[in-house]
Amino acid sequence: MPTHLIVLAAGAGTRMLSDRPKVLHEIGGAPILAHVLAAAQALDGERVLVVGGDGDAVSKEALRTDGKIRIAEQCEQRGTAHAVTVAAPELDGKGGDTLVLLGDTPFIRPETISAMGKARADGAEIVFLGFEASDPGRYGRIVTDGATLLRIVEWKDADDATRAIALCNAGLVLAETGTLLRLAAAAGRDNAAGEHYLTDIAALGRADGLDVRVVACAEEEALGINTCADLARAESVFQARARNAAVERGVTLLSAETVHFAFDTRIDRNVVVEPNVVFGPGVVIESGARIRAFSHLEGCHVGRNAVVGPHARLRPGTELGAGARIGNFVEVKNAEFGEGAQAKHLSYIGDASIGRDANVGAGTITCNYDGVSKHRTEVGERAFIGSSTMLVAPVAIGDDAMTASGSVITRNVPDGDLAIARTRQENKPGFARKLLAMLRATRRAGKAD
Ligand code: UD1
Ligand code: CA
Repeated sequence: MPTHLIVLAAGAGTRMLSDRPKVLHEIGGAPILAHVLAAAQALDGERVLVVGGDGDAVSKEALRTDGKIRIAEQCEQRGTAHAVTVAAPELDGKGGDTLVLLGDTPFIRPETISAMGKARADGAEIVFLGFEASDPGRYGRIVTDGATLLRIVEWKDADDATRAIALCNAGLVLAETGTLLRLAAAAGRDNAAGEHYLTDIAALGRADGLDVRVVACAEEEALGINTCADLARAESVFQARARNAAVERGVTLLSAETVHFAFDTRIDRNVVVEPNVVFGPGVVIESGARIRAFSHLEGCHVGRNAVVGPHARLRPGTELGAGARIGNFVEVKNAEFGEGAQAKHLSYIGDASIGRDANVGAGTITCNYDGVSKHRTEVGERAFIGSSTMLVAPVAIGDDAMTASGSVITRNVPDGDLAIARTRQENKPGFARKLLAMLRATRRAGKAD
């Protein structure tokens, strides 16, 4: 494995029609850069160096992922070779090998990096990563003579014959650190983009008599994200991988292509996910649970054998105990449901804890916000909240307590008590019939006019 890893991540998302730094656009709810850094850390977390260049944003994201990551600032983006030279002060004289990764290329597998390492161990002095592209687009083309890599030509500089080459450059390079820095510093800018190209070190290395080779990977791994169209393609690659991984782990997806995962979704085996479910960041689902159709979950923990949905929304801070049931059109936020507790229809439960086996009736709302602060609602074990109860927080309902349907509960209800907080019903005998007759007569008179 290489001693040092450099991730080139500077530059705005201009071709994405965006002011955001390119590598901070998201795939599966996490920045592209976070995907690359996760892969880099899996190789060797101690020695990752990120070249950023957009003030604080890229560096901040890198440090958020891992406070030990080192950062080099490239104030002006003068090309990939220049970006490597910006990292030089951190690496110079440190020896070992350096692997350059691109911050916009998130899908490289560890096996591919191992294959590059193997080529290096076999005697190659500079190893590039290439791939056979079905649609080579604007990738750099790798010019070979048999097994020998001659040079890499950027799309902008390539003639038609070179553009017809299907072997493309994925952008990764592995070399001895001193060699990499020396050749990167030697790369000129006499080309169509006026940039210092890292790809020039192929020809420069060969001119020095070095053994320069290319190792191949799958096209999908090499996907580099330059445009919004690339980002959309990357999202679908990520989703396909996430679905496969879930199914491999023993998750049942009833309509796999309609389920949307985040970078950190964790679903145990024996979970069934129905069609059209979206997992935002921070979801953990335990074995035996069922996530029914059209549900949206983020930042939540669903316990064993719980059932969620259809059409449920679980927001951050939701904790569902084993066997809990959250039904249709129920929104839960920052709330715990104990084992077997349920809210099955049309409710908002926020900043609350619902005791085990409690039943929250249809249309119940926790009125948790007074316009300034949030307040908590506590519901005891086995409590029964009648349909359409307004629980005006802060408020506590005791164990085995009940609220009458339609109540507006503003005071605590002790254990075992029944709270009725609504006006008493009054029936007026025969009044409805009389009223209807009167209304019909008025309408008839109106039509006759
Ligand atoms: C680069 C390669 C191209 C390859 C393609 C693969 C070069 C010259 N070209 O082209 O051969 O086919 O990747 O996806 O290397 N960056 C910096 N500082 C800079 C310029 C770029 O940090 O001054 C970073 C970017 O944030 C990006 C990465 O380096 O993550 C690659 O740069 P980009 O401009 O996207 O290169 P491509 O034109 O895609
Ligand atoms: Ca790119």
